[in-house]
Amino acid sequence: MVVNRLAGGTTPGRNSGRAIRARNPNSHPATIANVDTRPSSPDEAPSGASSDAGNAATTTEIEAMFDRLAPRYDLMNTLVSGFQERRWRRRVVELAGLEPGMAAVDVATGTGKVAEGLADRVGVFGRVVGVDVSTAMLERARRSNADRVELEFVSGDAMALPLESGAYDAATVAFGMRNLPDYERGFAEMLRVLRPGGRVVCAETARPRSPLGRLAWLWFERIVPMLGRLSSMPDAYRYLVASARAYPDPRTVAEIMTQAGFVDVRWTGLTLGIVTIHTGRRPAGDGS
Ligand SMILES: C[S@@+](CC[C@H](N)C(=O)[O-])C[C@H]1O[C@@H](n2cnc3c(N)ncnc32)[C@H](O)[C@@H]1O
Repeated sequence: MVVNRLAGGTTPGRNSGRAIRARNPNSHPATIANVDTRPSSPDEAPSGASSDAGNAATTTEIEAMFDRLAPRYDLMNTLVSGFQERRWRRRVVELAGLEPGMAAVDVATGTGKVAEGLADRVGVFGRVVGVDVSTAMLERARRSNADRVELEFVSGDAMALPLESGAYDAATVAFGMRNLPDYERGFAEMLRVLRPGGRVVCAETARPRSPLGRLAWLWFERIVPMLGRLSSMPDAYRYLVASARAYPDPRTVAEIMTQAGFVDVRWTGLTLGIVTIHTGRRPAGDGS
């Protein structure tokens, strides 16, 4: 069942009680026709073009962009989010529902901020693994967490997580999903590594629907590219806006999660709907 509210979760989505429709196979990124999505040089970010199935850029292009972005990433993130990102990440950690001694994975962990929050929850008898493709982002994550025994950062692709199946109580992804070439596969990989009954949490930038939210989005579309110019990486911030604009709406994301095998899929908006957090569970007892 897809439900469109997290807390309480009483409002059934339009799809509740019936099978979720299969997504349009024609929407695969390979069919983004007549759009040259490649960066014109290795030092330029991809365009951000995406379909409802995935980002059109290759993982190699995305990795190169985040490697270049890494030294400025945390500061720029704080500015771009209007100082909201901590609150968003805290919510992701809360929704993962972890307890001391549990195990979690944070996919597309970046500089490891969500992973740190998860590690605080599971404590020294638990285990948290942060996975990312960008060496430069991972270096930062490792450097600031060198003394934490319960927290480990590994290099790996979200499309084929280098992790054992059925071993984790929660899997999170914060502002990483929209970079993946195949969203459903990204969710399916998270499902695979979760134990039956384990929880997934996905936070992503979304286009708000309310009038106030649309105003906030205008701010995002205008201010973020300006901040990007200050950062000397304007192309990366153009990518940020373009990829956020192209990311599927919350209902479609919920459908993708359901297709990937999750149940109890719900979502909620934060900060006037500029960020959406989806949650779901691997079915209990599927044991596969
Ligand atoms: C916008 S950052 C988000 C980082 C972090 N989760 C946060 O909340 O700040 C996106 C991250 O996704 C990573 N990423 C992109 N594609 C990936 C892939 N296929 N597999 C693993 N990580 C990926 C990037 O390297 C980058 O660190």
